[in-house]
Amino acid sequence: MRLQLTPQAAGARILGLGSMQPDRVVTNHDLEKIVETNDEWIQSRVGIVERRFAAEKDSVVSMGVEAGSKALADAGLSPTDLDAVIVATCTMLKPIPNAAAQTADRIGVNGIGAMDLNTACAGFCYGTGLAGDMIRSGTAKHVLVIGSEKLSDWLDMNDRSTCIIFADGAGAAVVGPAATEEEVGVGPVIWGAAGDLVSTIHIDETDALRQEGQAVFRWATTKIAPVALRAVEAAGLSPSDIDVLVPHQANLRIVEAIAKRLRQSGGRDDLRVADDIQYSGNTSSASIPMAIDHMRGAGRVKSGDVALLVGFGAGLSYAAQVVVLP
Ligand code: UT7
Repeated sequence: MRLQLTPQAAGARILGLGSMQPDRVVTNHDLEKIVETNDEWIQSRVGIVERRFAAEKDSVVSMGVEAGSKALADAGLSPTDLDAVIVATCTMLKPIPNAAAQTADRIGVNGIGAMDLNTACAGFCYGTGLAGDMIRSGTAKHVLVIGSEKLSDWLDMNDRSTCIIFADGAGAAVVGPAATEEEVGVGPVIWGAAGDLVSTIHIDETDALRQEGQAVFRWATTKIAPVALRAVEAAGLSPSDIDVLVPHQANLRIVEAIAKRLRQSGGRDDLRVADDIQYSGNTSSASIPMAIDHMRGAGRVKSGDVALLVGFGAGLSYAAQVVVLP
């Protein structure tokens, strides 16, 4: 007996993008009143000028609904055009129920695949890779990939090594089928994990996020650029083909180290590099789609640009792929 399979697509591409940031701006000067820190240290060591913290009423789900709805509108699609919703998040307050089913319902669709995905700051790249494969295999036609985080729920506001870094928000992309091979806009995902370094970022017994900053910094500045370069090679491209580099916005110095390595490997001098951390902070799985959406809003990227995405964080987890921007 031979089982029937769904017809395959040539590949996938991103059809629309959206993002959401809470209203409350928290400046470095605001944090100076809470912990022993200063604007100069934060800007020079991390690159953050200000970040956003969600209000009580905002949640992983509500922020994801807003970003996801914007991405759908940007793609010119209705909620009922979706076949699946993936919510990448590591900051739900409780593991049950998941975020994705209620997010889909509040966006306006039920009866579709809905799952959460937790690879922390690598979540959007994992989700986009998964969505691309679901579409290519015929499991789904349109998949909404959302990264949504309320990290402020998990911060110890007395811990100056974390409370100045992390922030809240959501970003989303609609991934759909490419009609022809020429239209394929989501390259192969290169992903992995370093579970031997699990303790370097964790939630402790007081429910506060802790990280060994220096250990993670060393790992990110040495191990992540090679992952990004492998994604370029897997897409059949050279570093000089990349127009835009969008690393997870963990620390501007890490972003610059990855950009430097890409340029040393043949990347162009006019490579545009996401620096959204300056005004958004580190929003984990939301940071990559939010950064692209903000760059697009500022006219720094355009439709058809070739972007290299690379996420990395708790797990430790990492993932990268090349995408063509919608
Ligand atoms: O998104 C998930 C992935 N996460 C990352 O990729 C994060 C990677 N790590 C980092 O980005 C950086 O390690 C941090 C931003 C977390 C810390 O920066 P650093 O340059 O590695 O600082 P450090 O931990 O080596 O600390 C240097 C000094 C210390 O003082 P002493 O011991 O030299 O006197 C810290 O106590 O800076 C001090 N310090 C601060 N000073 C002012 C630490 N935090 C602060 C602060 N304000 N907020």
